[in-house]
Amino acid sequence: MKLKTGLKLALLHSTIREDEKLIIREAEKNHLDLTILDARYQVFNPHSWQNYFDVILERCLSTTVGFQATLFFERLGMKVINSSIVANNCDNKFLTSLLLSEHKIPTIPFALVFNEDQAKQAVKQLGGYPLVIKPVSGSWGRLLAKVNDDDSLEGIIEQKQVLGSPMQKALYLQKYVNKPGRDIRVVVIANQVVCAIYRETSHWITNTARGAQAKNCKVDQKLSEICVKASSAVGGGILGIDIFETDKRFLVNEINHTMEYKNVQRVTGVNVAAEIIHFCQEVAKS
Ligand SMILES: Nc1ncnc2c1ncn2[C@@H]1O[C@H](COP(=O)(O)OP(=O)(O)O)[C@@H](O)[C@H]1O
Ligand SMILES: [Mg+2]
Repeated sequence: MKLKTGLKLALLHSTIREDEKLIIREAEKNHLDLTILDARYQVFNPHSWQNYFDVILERCLSTTVGFQATLFFERLGMKVINSSIVANNCDNKFLTSLLLSEHKIPTIPFALVFNEDQAKQAVKQLGGYPLVIKPVSGSWGRLLAKVNDDDSLEGIIEQKQVLGSPMQKALYLQKYVNKPGRDIRVVVIANQVVCAIYRETSHWITNTARGAQAKNCKVDQKLSEICVKASSAVGGGILGIDIFETDKRFLVNEINHTMEYKNVQRVTGVNVAAEIIHFCQEVAKS
């Protein structure tokens, strides 16, 4: 039996998906001292916490659970991937858009409003319909609405105002981008492009969780450059960047900080899990 290396890695999770299984397999292959830590069953009390890890890989299904646990471990002096700053920059789509636009990275015209009147002003500022309304924080293409006219805008806003949580009352609007039946998901680790897939579907929502087909995508220099810039703008780490293609250029849509990558690994043949473990080792050493 081979001895484990000194590196103490914790995989912080809620459910164990195929993505987490791939990481566990790679950690074992590399003989890391791996602790599998279910965030749902911990008491995050700094006065009673006993364990120390060189690096914690945050892979919780719930962004709320993952984010609170990340804050906890960081305050106890441990390194968490992705850091709370990166997680917040990505989880909040409005903040991601602000960072992209601040760094002059091509992105989709956007605005945030809290009321119908301001929403109508934003529609004019963004050049009219169609628009997309989405939650400031969300995933898997859930709760997105494509809005074609004032009637549907009013209906959606009323629903959110009456039935929504306080966060859903924040109306994050984006110009609708006419995509060529697909978008691109690019995996970037440590500010370097690892691989990418096209997500193809006849529906305007192209998440694989919503049935889009994954196909290998070759990354050219132009796409690579924009992804590296976008990654740096949110603070680096392990990221899944969503890109739209237009006639003229690539646009960054959003950036995911706990990406699912099993489909990417399957269709590209790139061992993303191995890259993730390698990055954990580098961060632990730094
Ligand atoms: N402004 C937009 N124009 C056209 N399609 C969009 C737009 N915003 C989102 N989509 C489609 O919806 C999908 C999900 O939106 P996204 O912002 O990535 O949220 P999620 O976090 O739920 O994945 C995108 O991958 C894309 O296919
Ligand atoms: Mg997305």
